[in-house]
Amino acid sequence: MDTQNYEYFYDWVFTHLNIQLDAYKEKQLRRRIFTIMKQSGAQTLEEYAALIHLDKGVRQKFLDYITINVTEFFRNRDLFDNFERLLQTKLSKRFDSISIWSAACSIGAEPYSLAMIMKRNNLPLKQAILATDIDETILDRAKQGIFRENEVKNLSIIDRDKYFVEKDNRFELDETIKKMVHFKKHDLILDTYEKNFHVIVCRNVTIYFKNETKEDIYRRMSASLVTGGLLFTGATETIYQPEQYGLKKVASFIYEKVD
Ligand SMILES: C[S@@+](CC[C@H](N)C(=O)[O-])C[C@H]1O[C@@H](n2cnc3c(N)ncnc32)[C@H](O)[C@@H]1O
Repeated sequence: MDTQNYEYFYDWVFTHLNIQLDAYKEKQLRRRIFTIMKQSGAQTLEEYAALIHLDKGVRQKFLDYITINVTEFFRNRDLFDNFERLLQTKLSKRFDSISIWSAACSIGAEPYSLAMIMKRNNLPLKQAILATDIDETILDRAKQGIFRENEVKNLSIIDRDKYFVEKDNRFELDETIKKMVHFKKHDLILDTYEKNFHVIVCRNVTIYFKNETKEDIYRRMSASLVTGGLLFTGATETIYQPEQYGLKKVASFIYEKVD
């Protein structure tokens, strides 16, 4: 595995696919690239790059494999409950309307969960929830709002019946919730961040990044939040010394922007 020319491959991917692989954790990523390269039949990364270039199917498989799209509605329910409580007790008192960004949103289960929370609490959104991901294929799926059973398993039966229509083991999301979310392609490493959010939810993606990439992302996310806004991270994504980013821990994996 280590004899492969990863430097060449990373440069090639950056030039041709505009993805900065050297921002991701090295060992884990190399293992994944090697596995998917072998599956394609290529023996070297040079061969694999040529295959990615020529064959759309190989390219898509590579992109799917490195971007890891696992997700579900209300992932880590207890953390979402805490987050909902903070919305009710703090944010709704501080702000007339709330602007939300769900970063690295995968197939949309996360931003749609946020939309359900806003709706059931009657909290006004300033604009549609911004939901972004680097993976355009996954964003197309997100926009359709059709989910598999394992993706909706975390929802209560009441919410499932209220917001979805079941057809052939697929769960189709209600238009009222779909309309509350706006999907857009965005790369957390290479793109600029919009400003003035009251809430940023960025979960289960920084685990794949190197420390310096992570730090840069938290710095930029903090700058994108208004004072008193919240950053909600994944269940393993503790921010150490949050004050270095102008953040303060207010609950498990939830941080408030301070001045
Ligand atoms: C494991 S999913 C997390 C989905 C959701 N946030 C959750 O917690 O359930 C990780 C997502 O990060 C996206 N991703 C990976 N690298 C990214 C980048 N550089 N910029 C934006 N999104 C990225 C992947 O495409 C994938 O959809």
